[in-house]
Amino acid sequence: MKYIFLIITLFLTFPCVAQKNIIKPGEIWPDQHGDHIQAHGGGIIKLGKYYYWYGEERRKGLDTNLRFVSCYRSENLATWKFEGDVVKMSDPEQLGTGWVLERPKVYHRKSDGKFVMYFHLDNKNYSYARVGVAISDKANGDFKFIKSFRPLNRPSRDIGQFIDDDGSNYLIFEDRELGFHIVKLSTDLLSVEKEMSLVNAPLEGGAIVHYKNLYYAIGSALTGWAPNPNKFASSKSLSGPWTKFGDIAPLETNTYKSQSTMMLKVVGSRSTTVIFMGDQWNPAAQWDSRYLWMPLTIGNGKLWLPNPQPWKINVRTGETTLVKN
Ligand code: DGJ
Repeated sequence: MKYIFLIITLFLTFPCVAQKNIIKPGEIWPDQHGDHIQAHGGGIIKLGKYYYWYGEERRKGLDTNLRFVSCYRSENLATWKFEGDVVKMSDPEQLGTGWVLERPKVYHRKSDGKFVMYFHLDNKNYSYARVGVAISDKANGDFKFIKSFRPLNRPSRDIGQFIDDDGSNYLIFEDRELGFHIVKLSTDLLSVEKEMSLVNAPLEGGAIVHYKNLYYAIGSALTGWAPNPNKFASSKSLSGPWTKFGDIAPLETNTYKSQSTMMLKVVGSRSTTVIFMGDQWNPAAQWDSRYLWMPLTIGNGKLWLPNPQPWKINVRTGETTLVKN
């Protein structure tokens, strides 16, 4: 009796104790071991009932000659199990000290069930500007490097991933001189099939979602690791024309100190939610970079990132609820 009373008192005093599976924007996000999730500049794919989250592994104490990509798995988008580092790569093309592997994104190849990873491959000056491609038999690795190339023979820095409702696979890449490209990948996912759009606007951290007959593209300005006001445009078709870019959050917040990496659409039995996935970079201590995930207000050509606060999602119904701090 004494214990029941104690538990009730605890829940009444600290309502958060009663709440599980809360997504807390900007806070440490522990995996099953209690370690802060390392999936920066990442992307998510869904396989059956599982979500797989891939990203830059920037844990303290890693071998600085190698580059790592992590993989996490979840059924509910809130609690994540670290599956391991699916890429442990040494400099694949003599790029030298400080070489770069950023923004990994994984696609599932229907023909043989393999997994194809794209990432930004570069030297420390960001002048190599190519995509790297790696392949794996399983979602949780190991991925082996196959090649690098310049999509459309253009310099490619930040990349983004978009999979349409019909399963077609697209890559977004930032081309400093021209803007950003949206390209359709070939069926084997190893090359570019065709260009869908070239949007004459600078856009890093590019992401796209297809929501109720409109495509929405978001991204940031080019300010290195420093946050800036992210923007969005919409279009009836991936081939454009795209609207003018508008703000996604109050300008003075610099997108609540974050930068877009993906928009994740969760289609449930009652509702469809689009989640903004952003990185809050900490360049002096990258292992401590945080994640800002929030359900977007989206529809009819409008897109808005609400003031971040803790929230929950029911992935079966697609419904979200805000949780009082
Ligand atoms: C901005 C990009 O979005 C990041 O992925 C990273 O490349 C930094 N620039 C490097 O300054």
